[in-house]
Amino acid sequence: MADNSGPSKFAGSLNSAMIDGPEAQAALEYAMHFGEPGFEDVERIFITQHYEGYSKENQEAWTTLFDRQMEFLESRASQTYLNGARSIKLSRDRIPHLHGPESINHHLTRLTGWRSRGVPGLAPAKAFFAALAQRDFATTIVMRPKESLNYLPEPDIFHDVFGHVPLHADPVFGEFLQTYGKAASATSNPEHIKRMGTLFWFTVEFGLIREGGNIKLYGSGLISSPAESRHALESSDVERRPFDLEAACTTPYEIDHFQPILYVLESFDQLRDAMNRYAERILNENARLRSTVA
Ligand SMILES: [Fe+2]
Repeated sequence: MADNSGPSKFAGSLNSAMIDGPEAQAALEYAMHFGEPGFEDVERIFITQHYEGYSKENQEAWTTLFDRQMEFLESRASQTYLNGARSIKLSRDRIPHLHGPESINHHLTRLTGWRSRGVPGLAPAKAFFAALAQRDFATTIVMRPKESLNYLPEPDIFHDVFGHVPLHADPVFGEFLQTYGKAASATSNPEHIKRMGTLFWFTVEFGLIREGGNIKLYGSGLISSPAESRHALESSDVERRPFDLEAACTTPYEIDHFQPILYVLESFDQLRDAMNRYAERILNENARLRSTVA
């Protein structure tokens, strides 16, 4: 999960003991400076998932959310998402392991080379993009408290793994997301950075896709939210527009309300191909800029 607004807001809340140690503090500090001279090693933004830090209550919260949401999604999520969840062996029984032979990464890396890697909280945008460029998804490891299952002020491991990671098992979506990360890392033009943030919102977070004549969910903000997913599919207040990259880069969006406008893909190939063209445009602009400066 990316963030432009600063350091983790998780610290001091949730099961923060998991992200309060020296390793997490060092990773957070490094991520804040990522991209500056001497802060170019993306490996240093990641932390170990100290699995013993999850409480019984955390595990119960995972199972409750998993059961409730997966039942809803069986007929409403993109088949690509559902296949991905099965192939990485996402389980109702436990919070996913990120390390070792029992981990989701054990399956994911064999399928597409993607990995889900722990970070201490919202990753600053530059670090998040650099991770995507090497097929690493910066993953929040803390779990929301059981008493706030429905209210999520910040992403947690349910949003990041349940919501995002199954799609990374798909080769086409995986290619799209890496190209996105490479393009976002390659540009320092604030206009492109803003456009790419908006594109992320309307695709990775809140995207819809047409499958077999029906509109299905794939964006993680929908997949991991019971209320928003129902609203996205059923409400007559939602305008479901055919996907167009230029429009999805420039449409204003609402952070604190249900989305009134959503974009519907015809296929993930459409998204990958559109992203490839946009990435080429960014790289060509960079090349022109370099030749002008030279
Ligand atoms: Fe997200």
